[in-house]
Amino acid sequence: MNGLLRPASEYARDVAQLSWWMIAVATLVWLAVTGCVLWALWSRRRSVAIEGAPESPGNRGESSRGATLAVATATALTVVILFAFMAYDFVVGRAHAQPHDPLDADGALSVTVVGRQWWWEFIYDDTVPEKRLSTANELHIPAGVPILLALRSPDVIHSAWIPRLAGKQDLTPGYFTALRFTADSAGVYEGVCAEFCGAQHANMRFQVVAHPPEEFQRWRARESAPASPPTDPLAREGEKVFLASTCAACHAVAGTDARGTIGPALTHVASRRAIAANTVANTPENMARWIRDPQRIKPGTQMPSNDMPESSLRALVAYLRSLR
Ligand code: CUA
Repeated sequence: MNGLLRPASEYARDVAQLSWWMIAVATLVWLAVTGCVLWALWSRRRSVAIEGAPESPGNRGESSRGATLAVATATALTVVILFAFMAYDFVVGRAHAQPHDPLDADGALSVTVVGRQWWWEFIYDDTVPEKRLSTANELHIPAGVPILLALRSPDVIHSAWIPRLAGKQDLTPGYFTALRFTADSAGVYEGVCAEFCGAQHANMRFQVVAHPPEEFQRWRARESAPASPPTDPLAREGEKVFLASTCAACHAVAGTDARGTIGPALTHVASRRAIAANTVANTPENMARWIRDPQRIKPGTQMPSNDMPESSLRALVAYLRSLR
């Protein structure tokens, strides 16, 4: 509904306009059909009341000619309306179609989007390999700059949908697909997975944070830097727990030995607004709950439960909170 009421890109505006036309015409058709049904009921009753019989043989031929004409007109109108919308839909689709080569950025900022069960990975490539950055469930973009999302999926079919910015586009294993749009202004836009992809499909959400361009550059520079070593003793203790436990097998923290790629990179996890694919706010309490028993928050998630002493958990959370 937000995409319809508050579109924030040319793409979303075109889709909203098409939708409003469809809603308006469908409403008119519904009113016309309802009006005809009511009129038919009313006129039949009246003729029964006046003449004591539904129809006299004399006027039957005339009324059946009238009915034929009405049905023919309605059928022709239906065909015209359907074809007009098909053409309109085609024009909007063509205007925002993905490029033939989804990797041809053509001046746009290109971000690789990987759909996973059940979270989103956003990869910003860089000519300098150390500056390549991967983040999760939060897509940061500059406002007013064309964006090309190159979509991939290693597991099942997902569908990226940011109603206020762009239409849906599937992420299909083995294929490259893409989405192109330009956000009008800075702001936070909600995104969802729009294709059933397993138990946590409904909790596969993300946010698009559009910044003024200079602010975006600052964000990118900060995020592509390695994690700074913790200074606080508790956080230092937590880093040891992190590197010695199973955490490091699945998660990466740039600047440390943790290089896992199964779960989201955690280099700057503390800077994210939410955790668990935007399911719960990024607070120390939620972080602790998530580490201890993720299945409680997202049944079916690949992250296993982690039974550890309370002191280790506290240190681990302190470490993760230090990854700004
Ligand atoms: Cu991914 Cu639904």
